[in-house]
Amino acid sequence: MKEFNQKITKSILTGIQPSGIITLGNYIGAIKQMVRMQDEFKSYIFIADMHAITVPQDPEKLHKNIRSLVALYIACGIDPDKNIIFVQSENEYHANISWLLECNTYFGELSRMTQFKDKSSKNANFSAGLFTYPILMAADILAYDVDYVPVGIDQKQHVELARNIASRFNKKYGPTFKVPEAYITDFGTKITDLVNPTKKMSKSSANQKGVIRLLDDLKSIEKKIMGATTDSDCQIKYDPLNKPGISNLINICVALTGKTINEIENAFKNQNYGEFKKYVASVVVEEIRGIQKRYEEIINSEKLDQILNENIKITRSIAKEKFITMKHNMGLYK
Ligand code: AMP
Ligand code: TRP
Repeated sequence: MKEFNQKITKSILTGIQPSGIITLGNYIGAIKQMVRMQDEFKSYIFIADMHAITVPQDPEKLHKNIRSLVALYIACGIDPDKNIIFVQSENEYHANISWLLECNTYFGELSRMTQFKDKSSKNANFSAGLFTYPILMAADILAYDVDYVPVGIDQKQHVELARNIASRFNKKYGPTFKVPEAYITDFGTKITDLVNPTKKMSKSSANQKGVIRLLDDLKSIEKKIMGATTDSDCQIKYDPLNKPGISNLINICVALTGKTINEIENAFKNQNYGEFKKYVASVVVEEIRGIQKRYEEIINSEKLDQILNENIKITRSIAKEKFITMKHNMGLYK
């Protein structure tokens, strides 16, 4: 990343937690969309490792997952020449800004966050960080004066909070932040679990058979697809309500090949589920083979370090400026 294309005026920022290897669902539902957006927006994409530690993490695994996620994103087509990809904890200004915002956020506001209520109800010994998590997210967003924040619907409430914090801050201390908008990314196709096709395919699923991860070995991916749950009607027809398993496989093919549902149904009119699954497996395996090849080229390369080092300098200087402005506007020393 040298400089953003000057013709592009609008910017976006999004963070991804390094909690486990991403799935085919993440790839189809989120990453492919980001790849499309990178030509329209100045994009900041970061690995939200400081958000990940709001719940217990194994340090060794976390460390590996962070670098791995950066390499996977690049392997999936997030172009480091068009996007600023960086690691959140490498930029200390996020935490600094977060504290200043923390002193301008109400306890009551945080208590109303549904993700906090949900996660804290599962484990009585939750950290204070789990509670203040949305303020760190507001800091991530507001540091860069972006226009849009692409997130899944579950994160919309956090973006709304960031907007409220920003507006309040601007009113109290003078214009300091751009107030961004959430850009909901959940309208696309939901890829479902291969074993339980009415459930979303999820990074955190316990049953590995239903989930395809981008770093799974290719043979096991083929096996999982061949073993996917289907119905007993033997017709390759798109009907999500009555035939969720087959419809999910059709959705995967549509997303990866660009063919229409109709074209796929017609191509497999007189064929059985086994033949169709073989085709789906070959499509998925070929796509993931390409991703894994690019991943292997980049994961241990100096280029990856160069990208991260260069980008952290850029983001530190932007966030530092915002931190200084905030301090000044709030009347802190210097
Ligand atoms: P998560 O892994 O739930 O944190 O989601 C990260 C992003 O991937 C969000 O934009 C989700 O909407 C998207 N995503 C996650 N799982 C799926 C899925 N099974 N199908 C489609 N999109 C998904
Ligand atoms: N909280 C988001 C999630 O769990 C990740 C995240 C952290 C984020 N900071 C952000 C997303 C800033 C968008 C903007 O998915």
